[in-house]
Amino acid sequence: MKVLVIGGGAREHALCRSLSLDPDVSALYCAPGNAGISEVAELRPVDALDGDAVTALATELGADLVVVGPEAPLVAGVADAVRAAGIPVFGPSGEAAQLEGSKAFAKDVMAAAGVPTARSYVCTTPEEVDEALDAFGAPYVVKDDGLAAGKGVVVTEDRAAARAHALGCDRVVIEEYLDGPEVSLFAITDGVTVVPLQPAQDFKRALDGDEGPNTGGMGAYSPLPWADPKLVDEVMELVLQPTVDELRHRGTPFSGLLYAGLAITGRGTRVIEFNARFGDPETQVVLARLRTPLAGVLLNAANGTLDVQPPLRWSEDAAVTVVIASHNYPETPRTGDVIEGLAEVAAEDAPDAYVLHAGTRREGDSVVSAGGRVLSVTATGSDLAQAREKAYKAVARIRLDGSQHRTDIAAKAAVRP
Ligand code: AMP
Ligand code: GLY
Repeated sequence: MKVLVIGGGAREHALCRSLSLDPDVSALYCAPGNAGISEVAELRPVDALDGDAVTALATELGADLVVVGPEAPLVAGVADAVRAAGIPVFGPSGEAAQLEGSKAFAKDVMAAAGVPTARSYVCTTPEEVDEALDAFGAPYVVKDDGLAAGKGVVVTEDRAAARAHALGCDRVVIEEYLDGPEVSLFAITDGVTVVPLQPAQDFKRALDGDEGPNTGGMGAYSPLPWADPKLVDEVMELVLQPTVDELRHRGTPFSGLLYAGLAITGRGTRVIEFNARFGDPETQVVLARLRTPLAGVLLNAANGTLDVQPPLRWSEDAAVTVVIASHNYPETPRTGDVIEGLAEVAAEDAPDAYVLHAGTRREGDSVVSAGGRVLSVTATGSDLAQAREKAYKAVARIRLDGSQHRTDIAAKAAVRP
């Protein structure tokens, strides 16, 4: 099978790594990719937001499957263009991707499907904003309606700051604060059948102890030793299957990866958000534990034949990933700094620990930073404590001027009873 992956972050590196280990994959391409992905896939330049360009590339390569990684091309309808050319594609239509592209749409789908989520108001005027802020009280949760790369959400005790953020957006969702640990649960679906993956936890804040601004994600781990073993079944029944059914009944079937961001509150599990694609950095740890070859699963989802997919097999190992980010991230990051130590990790720590590239590019013989999140250092071990140790040992070998990373990824969960 020839597979083309669209995108160029750590999620795509994790996808390409898994696909490159799949004996059914005879050729693997990534467009546009990054410096790390070039070690496992052949890179091609493309404007990932241009459906015609992606379709032309898939046709030229004779791709049997196109996997669209990031949300922006999905919302732009890139999967529709590829599908219209008769090429199997893993990723939802632009309409179905509105589940991520518009928080208001997601709330509407959840209401219709009876999916538990925070109570909310959609506001477009200062009066509506004031009313909603006062209805819920502090802590305030204010979300830009559109795509914002994980940075459109402000959670604050400060009413003035909440109001200022709201007034800076065209349309905002203001909602009830959900208290409790967060879980990311991904499911692969063809629009009818839903196959859940293993849950993971993401660390959204920039600094240790969950301080600092929201980011795209600074680290993740899986499994979750503290979670109720029935969590996956419960979320399947209350959230994932009803959402997929609702979208199909609306005539906008969702096929691809449905990502449920959940809060485990004292009053039950609630959806914080949906995403329409693999999450980053959770994908890095979830795929590190998946034993079933990936390509066939994605192809079954693309072809509407997930009902014949045998149950997924999972490793007993735990996985931890630690994101190394640029100086100044999540504000405008400094880029172009040389990254050193990659070869040492490959020589000393592989195969248990490895570096997935997020924002990197090659410059002559060097690999340099090219984005906010630069690397995602991933490791597996017999338990979280061991996976954590290996991940941080590898992190310590990486040298990138001005870079930052959290030192407490999976720390609480890794404490042995
Ligand atoms: P989102 O982009 O919707 O995932 O929001 C980013 C982060 O903001 C989430 O991972 C939560 O940590 C936080 N957040 C979002 N909505 C809520 C909420 N209703 N209550 C508490 N925290 C929230
Ligand atoms: N890990 C959060 C996200 O992918 O949106």
